[in-house]
Amino acid sequence: MKTVFSGIQPSGTLTLGNYLGAMKNFVDMQEDEDCYFCIVDQHAITVPQKKEDLRRNTRSLAALYLAAGISQEKSTLFIQSEVPAHAQMAWMMQCISYIGELERMTQFKDKSSGSDAVSAALLTYPPLMAADILLYGTDVVPVGEDQKQHLELTRNLASRFNTQYNDIFTVPEVRIPKVGARIMALNDPEKKMSKSNPKAKSYISMLDEPDTIRKKFRSAVTDSEGIVAFDKENKAGISNLLTIFSLCSGDSIEQLEEKYRDSGYGAFKDAVAEAVISVLSPIQERWKELMDSAELDDILDEGAARADKKAAKMLAKAERAMGLGRQKRR
Ligand code: TYM
Repeated sequence: MKTVFSGIQPSGTLTLGNYLGAMKNFVDMQEDEDCYFCIVDQHAITVPQKKEDLRRNTRSLAALYLAAGISQEKSTLFIQSEVPAHAQMAWMMQCISYIGELERMTQFKDKSSGSDAVSAALLTYPPLMAADILLYGTDVVPVGEDQKQHLELTRNLASRFNTQYNDIFTVPEVRIPKVGARIMALNDPEKKMSKSNPKAKSYISMLDEPDTIRKKFRSAVTDSEGIVAFDKENKAGISNLLTIFSLCSGDSIEQLEEKYRDSGYGAFKDAVAEAVISVLSPIQERWKELMDSAELDDILDEGAARADKKAAKMLAKAERAMGLGRQKRR
């Protein structure tokens, strides 16, 4: 059985991109593997967050994980800040990271460009991510394509630590889905669908009402050809919709092309919207029940306790390897 770790930031409501690129795959993986799924609130505060919003988003994300099918029996679901080993290990990871390699991260470059109040944590975000992963002896990290560079850095940091101190870390494998690794914005299919995009029309939130979903798909940017066919280069909008449709309906892209080729974009977009609604509606219903439940707190308490137990062991090993603190008395 492999150990799997992944995290999602509680910054804003999750998008269909987060669901199809990451969360949906987590649900499948928990059947056979030892899975840790984390609500990474310490990553979220690398950019300013309102206290009340962060609290609500953290709870909402926990409820979404469960509503989407993550189960406490099969996985460990927890909040990053409730397991102190993450921040402790992150410091050690920062000590073996080079400023140059952190400055080369595209996400850092994107988020810091044009802004003069850039937090130091935006730069040291990837060592925290490495800490998250390495604490659990993780074999596999399922993520969307945008996290690939961070995962490469994690692998480098693990190997660097193993060489410089002691061979304690598993160098994790990145698992990026073949379909859905990069769901694009509806209003601009050249850009990634993102919860930080100020235009609500650009993304489907996992909590959008059916009518909002229908409207957003109707206004999705496509092309003027009128033929439903997959061609990422020349038909980015339609290709994105086909990807979403395929992942939500279970039909292959080829089957959908055949069925909708000449149906016209209007009918095609409506069909995509209905497929998305049929996936999101049951998740939303369960989310509502969980949001204010004591059950949610019980699951998160147990998750934090389980994660803490595992993480504390690896933290102690890493501290020993680096020579932090005193040697244990015999
Ligand atoms: P975050 O919160 O931005 O995104 C969560 C997951 O969703 C994926 N994703 C997408 N997949 C397909 N299409 C999209 N448009 C799309 N947008 C987002 C992301 O790739 C990610 O898998 N740094 C991470 C959180 C993190 C983490 C970790 C992940 C912290 N520690 C350890 C894995 C392991 C992040 O900001 O993800």
